[in-house]
Amino acid sequence: MNQTIIIFDTTLRDGEQSPGAALNVYEKLEIAHQLARLKVDVIEAGFPVSSPQQFEAVKRIAGEVNATIAALARAKELDIKKAWEAVREAPKKRIHTFSSTSDYHIIGKFGHERYGRNIAEKRQTVIQMSIDAVQYARTFCGDVEFSAEDAGRTDIGYLAEVIEAAIEAGATTVNIPDTTGYTLPAEFSAKIKELKKRVKNIDQAVISVHCHNDLGLAVANSLSAVQAGARQVECTVNGIGERAGNASLEEFVMALNVRKDLLPYSTRINTREIYNASKMVSGFTGIIVQPNKAIVGDNAFAHESGIHQDGMLKNRETYEIMTPEDVGVQKTKIVLGRHSGRHGLKARLEELGYRLSENELDRTYKLFTDLADKKKEVFDEDLRILMGDEVYKQNDHVMLEFLQVHLGTHAIPTATVKIKREAESVQESATGDGPVDAVFNAIDRALGSKFKIESYQLRSVTSGRQAMGEALLRIRNGEKSYNGRGVSTDIIEASAKAYLQAINRLQNDTVGKDKTQEQVALSDAV
Ligand code: KIV
Ligand code: ZN
Repeated sequence: MNQTIIIFDTTLRDGEQSPGAALNVYEKLEIAHQLARLKVDVIEAGFPVSSPQQFEAVKRIAGEVNATIAALARAKELDIKKAWEAVREAPKKRIHTFSSTSDYHIIGKFGHERYGRNIAEKRQTVIQMSIDAVQYARTFCGDVEFSAEDAGRTDIGYLAEVIEAAIEAGATTVNIPDTTGYTLPAEFSAKIKELKKRVKNIDQAVISVHCHNDLGLAVANSLSAVQAGARQVECTVNGIGERAGNASLEEFVMALNVRKDLLPYSTRINTREIYNASKMVSGFTGIIVQPNKAIVGDNAFAHESGIHQDGMLKNRETYEIMTPEDVGVQKTKIVLGRHSGRHGLKARLEELGYRLSENELDRTYKLFTDLADKKKEVFDEDLRILMGDEVYKQNDHVMLEFLQVHLGTHAIPTATVKIKREAESVQESATGDGPVDAVFNAIDRALGSKFKIESYQLRSVTSGRQAMGEALLRIRNGEKSYNGRGVSTDIIEASAKAYLQAINRLQNDTVGKDKTQEQVALSDAV
């Protein structure tokens, strides 16, 4: 049996469903290029029917990124047609369609009696919808993946029927998602083994798994499924995704690499690009990586106690099962400064995974020299922050032109801001409970709307007196939330930038959406 595992990356689709993580088209393109450098086999680039922005991002990625590009579609003609239109330019493309198969989902989504009078009839309706969807997708594309949503909680007999029907209809990959992160590793691998026994045409398709992390078992379940015969694993960089996220790409891949003795499987992943990918995804989504996160957390290779440090000095293997270099963490720190030229900056950014057009380079170089004037020494960490914060803002609707704050022990904090909104600039002042509140109030006045701030955090992201302060916040608009991230050596400015970034993400996400598109969500039935 083939021992190569296909890595299907869904950072740009399931990952982007993480609360607040709305990426713009430029950010998605950059991440997609980085995923290609990482050498993932399939990039699920988005859910094209859900919004014009999603459609455009998938189409741009299909037009220029070298991997199989997949687009998600519910089992509906319009979804499948849109998915096809979005991926058709890619040299290698896939349509990924899905139906819900557990009784929980069938009862929840297909309650109306037009889908059947009882669960048995409703189940048959779902099988027919799945067949129709796969057959329709096959009229466009030779590579069609079918997912049985909530397979983890689906009755095995019925699951086998659905999977067999999907393969019969032309599915080339059949995905078994543990949508709610409910299963345990032994249970999940038993499910895969049982499907291999019961589905008579199973050899005609690749078995895939897609595990969520609600019990912290997504990677364990994926590994267990591979041992049972799955040959595609769906995962995301940093494990981001719905709720507690998806299986983390870096953890799954490194588990295979480190434990070759027990796991004789390989992937095509270039592990030395893992760290760049992790930093880029975190920078653009505003989702920070917990320090103790395996493989890519700040402490993943830090040895604190004396005994450990001593052991490490004598022999690295005492406490390390892989080296930082294996996953692309650089040992030597490269420092740039105010005398570094454009060329040096561009070369270093390319090594960190960022591609820049001439215009973007001009903009970045200006930001870099401003920073170098303040900081003297500019490290990789500063450059990544600059890229995550500033550079891909071409479609921003509102920008901070100017900020002034008046505060003191006995003064009422007062802020004045000048905001560029499309072609005009608006200046407003406001007071607040503190300087940050005053800035937010002044921005609200300038924009004529107030946004609910769900969370707000400040931290220092580089070291020393000139450390950069990072503000992370989330605003809510109805059912969706949007992360904003701002970085500056001045934390009040960082907060203003974070607030404006969240507002820009909200506006980018809603501009051009008509009423029907706003209602399209993965949880919708049909
Ligand atoms: O978790 C899930 O079931 C999904 C499907 C759409 C594959 O994301
Ligand atoms: Zn999922």
